[in-house]
Parts: sequence; C-alpha cells; structure tokens
Amino acid sequence: MDQATTQHAAPASAAAGRNRDIFLRISNHLARVTQIQSALAAVAKEVAQVLPFTHFDICLLDGPDWTVSYEVGIQTRWSRKRARLENSPVRSILCGDLDYMICTNAMEDPRQTFAGATSEPIFNHNLRSRVHVSMNVMGQRVGTLNISHSDQNRFDHDTLALAQPLADLLAPYFHALRAIEKARQDAQARTELQSREEGLRRGASSLTLALEQERQRIGMDLHDQTLADLTRLMRILTDETHPLDRSYLAEAMATSIRDLRQIIEEAMPAQLDLFGLSHALSAHLQKVAQTRAPRACDLRTSLVDNVDFEMDEMLPKDVRTAIYRIGQEAVNNAVNHAGASSIVITLDTDRAGDLVMCVRDDGIGFDTHGRTRRSGLAHMETRARLVRGHLDITSEHGTCVTFRLPLSAQEAPQ
Ligand SMILES: Nc1ncnc2c1ncn2[C@@H]1O[C@H](COP(=O)(O)OP(=O)(O)OP(=O)(O)O)[C@@H](O)[C@H]1O
Ligand SMILES: [Mg+2]
Repeated sequence: MDQATTQHAAPASAAAGRNRDIFLRISNHLARVTQIQSALAAVAKEVAQVLPFTHFDICLLDGPDWTVSYEVGIQTRWSRKRARLENSPVRSILCGDLDYMICTNAMEDPRQTFAGATSEPIFNHNLRSRVHVSMNVMGQRVGTLNISHSDQNRFDHDTLALAQPLADLLAPYFHALRAIEKARQDAQARTELQSREEGLRRGASSLTLALEQERQRIGMDLHDQTLADLTRLMRILTDETHPLDRSYLAEAMATSIRDLRQIIEEAMPAQLDLFGLSHALSAHLQKVAQTRAPRACDLRTSLVDNVDFEMDEMLPKDVRTAIYRIGQEAVNNAVNHAGASSIVITLDTDRAGDLVMCVRDDGIGFDTHGRTRRSGLAHMETRARLVRGHLDITSEHGTCVTFRLPLSAQEAPQ
C-alpha cells in the first residue's frame, strides 16, 4: 500500500481539494457496502492514495470492557477475536483520556507497550509510526481509527489533519454497521441455541418413547413367560387327578425364577447398584461377548479402568446409569455389527479433569456421517447430552465411541 506521493509535497490548496475528493469518493463507497470489512477495504484504498501506510485498522468498543478490531492488509491477532479494553494499545483514547496519539516509534512507546498490552502485532510487523484518532458518535466515544507505518517518525500533525475528519466521517457509519453485525451474530447464536434445544427435546422424546416401548416389552415378557409359567404351575398344583411331581415342580420353578431374573436384569442393571459402574460394564462386555462368540478365542474383551476417583461415590445415579447405557449400546453395536476380534472399554480422566469412556473395536467400521443411524446411536447421543456430556464416534481401523463427561458440570451425587 506504500504507493502514494505524500500530501506534504502538494501545495496546501491542491491537497485540500484532493482530500475533499477522497472524502466524497469514500462517502460514495460507504453508500454501497453493508459489511464492515468491505467498507473498511474501500476506505483504506482511498486513504492509501494520499497517506502511505503499512497497516490500517478500526478498533471499536464492544461493551464497557471489550474491543473488536477490523483490519486491512496485514491480519493480526487484533482482528482475530475480542480483546480486553485494559490491554489495548489505544486504551487511553478509548477511555477518553486522550483524543489522539502520534507515535514516532510505537515499539519503544510505553503507551503502546505497557505490561499486558496486546502489542505483539506492533513488533511482529514493525509498526513503528502510528497515528490514532478518536471516533465519536453523539458525543460518545465509540472507537479509534489507527494508521501505522513500518518506518519511524512518519506521521505528524498534518497526518492528524487528514485522519481526524476521516474518523469523524466514518464513525457513525461504522457504529451502525457494527450494531447490524452484532444483531446478526446475536440472531445466529439464538437460532443455534434454539436448534440445539430442539434437537435435545426431540432426542429426549424419542428416548421416552423407547422407554415406554421397553415397559411394554417387559409387560409382554411377564405376561407371556412368567405369568404363563405360574399359571401352568398352578394348574399342576391344583390338579387332583395327578400325583404331585415335586422334582418336576422344583425344576419348573427354578426355570421360571431364572427367566424372571433375566427380565429384571434387562430392565434394571442390578450389577450397577451392587458392584459399581466399572464392574457392571465389564460384566456386560463378557456376557454379550460369550453369547455372541461362544469360543473365547473368537472375541477378546477387556476393560481398563484408570479413573483416579470413586466414580460410584462421586457421580449421581442418573449419570452412572447414562454412562452404563451408552457403554452397553456401544458394546452391543460392536458385537452385533463390527465383526470385531477385540473390544476394549477404557475409563480414564483426561488433563482437563473430564471423565472419558472409550469403547473401541477393531471391526469393519461404518460411515459415521451416513444415514444408517437407528435408535441406538441416537439414544446414546441423547443420553450423553442429558447428563451434559459429549459423544464422539470415529470409525477408522474399527470404531471408537468416546463419551466425555466434564466433571465440573456435575451436581453432587444423589
Ligand atoms: N461398532 C460398529 N461397527 C460397525 N458398524 C456399526 C457399529 N456401530 C454401529 N454401526 C452401524 O451403524 C448402524 C446404526 O447403529 P444403531 O445402534 O443406531 O442401530 P442398530 O444397532 O442397527 O439398531 P438398534 O436401534 O437396535 O441399536 C448399525 O446398523 C451399523 O450398521
Ligand atoms: Mg445398536
């Protein structure tokens, strides 16, 4: 951008005429753009005609403690994210202590390089000469316009005489554009929140439906199996035409009790309460693996528990149940679909202090973004979200289902 002849060389009246033309052209540009970044690019292009610069930016106040910046040309951390006002090299203007600042060498200027200042871009890009002027709207300070050059001592009061009217011209316009941008961002954030909530609501309602179906299944199992068994036994007991075969009765009762236990176990994982989460997961892993692969060598399973706190004491019951159910479904899927020769569950705590459960198989994997998703995956996802956890499924050389639970988000155990 360092291509212009300076305004010092031109006679004063010619320079004034040229500045007026530039301001007119800037106004014309501004009338046509609605995005801050494109408005700034248009302005910078015109300014470069009369004032050579290395870096050009606008810094706007964003609430009482924060600033946002928009840059042209070199992109630095200034425009990457919001920054705290107290760390801004132009804080004295933003706070109203100064109206402008001219730095002959910002790299050695304590106003720009104080402890905690976001001044890395000054050093990274050798922004030695800097001029900053205030931007005001209806008597309120809204930001600063900042022009920098890598040479020392490039700017003086003549620069100021161009920069301040420019800032006055731009201030209301950029203030309004920023308000529009903020409204757009807020609307987007609201929409995202709504769709997240809607997703959770739908997931929870599908889970409720599944639980209802589960209740119906239990009812049917009790009806078709247990009730039928008991009715048959009752008939034998009350049949006076036949002698009572005690050993047959005992055997039939034992079978019925075993079936009943099976129905209860499926509905309510007693292992979880009796022996704890880790043991319950391990027991499920072994049970499913044995049913599916009767020869032990067909499927290797293991559970590695590296958690350094008492999960069963620290975690509320609903959270433990959710973890168990997620692990259970991930194991079921690995056994049913993966054709794996190994399934490993790991329980761990990571550096951030989150609890992490991984169910990893070495099977055929699947397209995790595809449409093959049925209830199992969707319910895992919902269960994870209902306890404020996060589920991630990757499929590369097998499948890995990772459930992450931020412990800081948990309430005291019930
Ligand atoms: N570990 C895995 N390895 C290979 N494929 C998998 C694995 N986990 C899931 N899948 C694939 O993803 C599909 C969806 O899984 P999901 O658990 O949602 O449904 P499902 O197991 O088929 O039925 P259910 O609703 O009874 O769980 C599966 O049908 C399977 O094709
Ligand atoms: Mg499944």
